Amino acid sequence: MRALDIITKKRDGYTLTDQEINYLIRAYQQEEIPDYQISAWLMAIFLRGMNSEETAALTLAMVQSGNTVDLTGVSGIKVDKHSTGGVADTTTLVLAPLVAAAGVPVAKMSGRGLGFTGGTIDKLESIPGFCATLTQKQFITCLRQHNIAITGQSGDIAPADGKLYALRDVTATIESIPLIASSIMSKKIAAGADKIVLDVKVGRGAFMKDLNQAILLAEAMVKIGELVGRETMAVLTNMDQPLGQAVGNSLEIQEAIDVLSGNGPASLRDACLVLGSYMLVLGGKVTDVPTGKAVLNELLQNGQALLKFTDFITAQGGDAQIVQQPSRLPQAKCNRVITSSRAGYVQNIYADQIGYNAMLLGAGREKKGDTIDLAAGIMLHCRIGDYVDKSQPIASLYSNSMEKLDRTQHVIEMAITIGDEAVQPPALVLGIVDRNGYQANTFK
Ligand code: URA
Ligand code: CA
Repeated sequence: MRALDIITKKRDGYTLTDQEINYLIRAYQQEEIPDYQISAWLMAIFLRGMNSEETAALTLAMVQSGNTVDLTGVSGIKVDKHSTGGVADTTTLVLAPLVAAAGVPVAKMSGRGLGFTGGTIDKLESIPGFCATLTQKQFITCLRQHNIAITGQSGDIAPADGKLYALRDVTATIESIPLIASSIMSKKIAAGADKIVLDVKVGRGAFMKDLNQAILLAEAMVKIGELVGRETMAVLTNMDQPLGQAVGNSLEIQEAIDVLSGNGPASLRDACLVLGSYMLVLGGKVTDVPTGKAVLNELLQNGQALLKFTDFITAQGGDAQIVQQPSRLPQAKCNRVITSSRAGYVQNIYADQIGYNAMLLGAGREKKGDTIDLAAGIMLHCRIGDYVDKSQPIASLYSNSMEKLDRTQHVIEMAITIGDEAVQPPALVLGIVDRNGYQANTFK
């Protein structure tokens, strides 16, 4: 086989065979094919697309490029959840202990934040002592003992995806549905999940800006799951405004503790109840979403979810006293309250601007390897549709650098717009995609 023939074939709009896709990925992994040929191939895929079978073959080729986690020794159906990335997306920190408390084992490999989206591993590392780099043996031991384990993604999970992603980043080939779908699914499959619940974010603060694109991405991922025998479904959730109130690492840990205690922002809790219910359905614990929500709500109210979070932190070496004493989490030296310049209705809270400026305050990385300020971030005190009085606090900013507060304050003020017109708050859950296709949201 020759790379040139395979590139030509895709350029001209033909369908590639499994053998051709496997050959390219394996040869690229072994550095037998140069970056420039793979770049041309990626652009051909970007322009011509891939059908479901090709996308599944690409996914499996990337899975096979590295190690896979074998969770067959852990009893129960392992259900993973993956978010396509958003702002103030604290769902994993809530869902993992919540769903584990309901009896479904949660084995998660999570990432670090990059650009304007946060990463679960950074958030967890704001807990003193917490270890997010478990060996495979430690990971499985934690999972067996506590029904929950979260670790950073090691370099040997789908390494071909890492190489392809780096190339896509510099060749304008990120925004391709088959390439995004295979990239996400390869990592989930290699991490050992039996079943997968996807949280596909839609809106200004997300990869997919409109619902139709999000449905296409969700359908592509659900189809990969079906073709490789890992049942997958997707919940489409709104990301025009940040999901919760907290944006920043230790701030989001605090917010997760609030939700796990039965409090916290309703938007974050509701998103977790829907996603968690689907995890229970796929995990075989309940037969429908309303029952799942009732089960999970009870675990939030009766303290079991918080207890599971405490066990999990302790098991991974963290200081579980943060649960009772949040002041043990990193605290910012400087803060500033932003107040409303006028009375009116909150028209927009630009999630991408909020996320970007939380990063500039120190909560995130501009580029790989940057160090972050675990205490930095933004607390929002309003949501789209709220009425606010003049001079009412609408956000608080936290940082260890006064200069960063000065630099970002104005942009954050501009990211929350207030006007005379009453605004309908956007729906949080837009719909789902499963093997029967897209269904608009029918609950609530
Ligand atoms: N997230 C991924 O893991 N891969 C993509 O291609 C896009 C988002
Ligand atoms: Ca996230």
